Amino acid sequence: MRGRFVTLEGVDGAGKSTHLDWIAGLIAAGGRKVVVTREPGGTPLGEELRKLLLAQPMHLETETLLMFAARREHLDRVILPALAAGTWVLSDRFTDATFAYQGGGRGLDPAKIERLETWVHPDLQPDLTLVFDLSVEEAKRRRLAASAAPDRFEQENLEFFARVRAMYLARAARYPQRMRLIDASRSVADIRKELEEYIVIACQ
Ligand code: TYD
Repeated sequence: MRGRFVTLEGVDGAGKSTHLDWIAGLIAAGGRKVVVTREPGGTPLGEELRKLLLAQPMHLETETLLMFAARREHLDRVILPALAAGTWVLSDRFTDATFAYQGGGRGLDPAKIERLETWVHPDLQPDLTLVFDLSVEEAKRRRLAASAAPDRFEQENLEFFARVRAMYLARAARYPQRMRLIDASRSVADIRKELEEYIVIACQ
């Protein structure tokens, strides 16, 4: 049986990293093999591209193409083989992040992102996408408390993150079957209660 593809999304600072390994543990406790990975990254080449993407100023379309170049490699080497072998894939971000950051945040025409999506993964969408939703002010407070050196995205202003968040909310409303909005302002314990429900359903 094919594995399930689960992705975590949200503005920087919303807390997905706090829950990533815990969710992986939950999936494993359900008797499934699971691979934990991330975007951009997840392969040796993808991790090199990640370093460039997080540090190097570049044209918006270059940024978008590199995100999809890393993704193409990630699909080929990690995501598709795992799913075919019946292993679950838990990815910290996927194509929703490109719509949110390059589309919403930076203003790239979503039609261009849709063309790349159709090219790179015409037949694949996540089975479940958990969107950690938080006010951009609170997300910034959490980033400042957690992160020593902010990367190129984390240095963006509140207006940028408000557009990123708005795009996530719009996509969650458009794809209610696979996308679940998680109110990330609550306690870790409350959030995990809700996450557990979604993972149990996904395991069925
Ligand atoms: P992130 O996933 O937040 O990792 P960390 O918790 O280590 O900072 O960092 C990845 C950054 O890349 C994040 O700011 C969002 C950005 N990003 C895009 O802009 N577009 C994309 O398609 C992806 C996958 C990520």
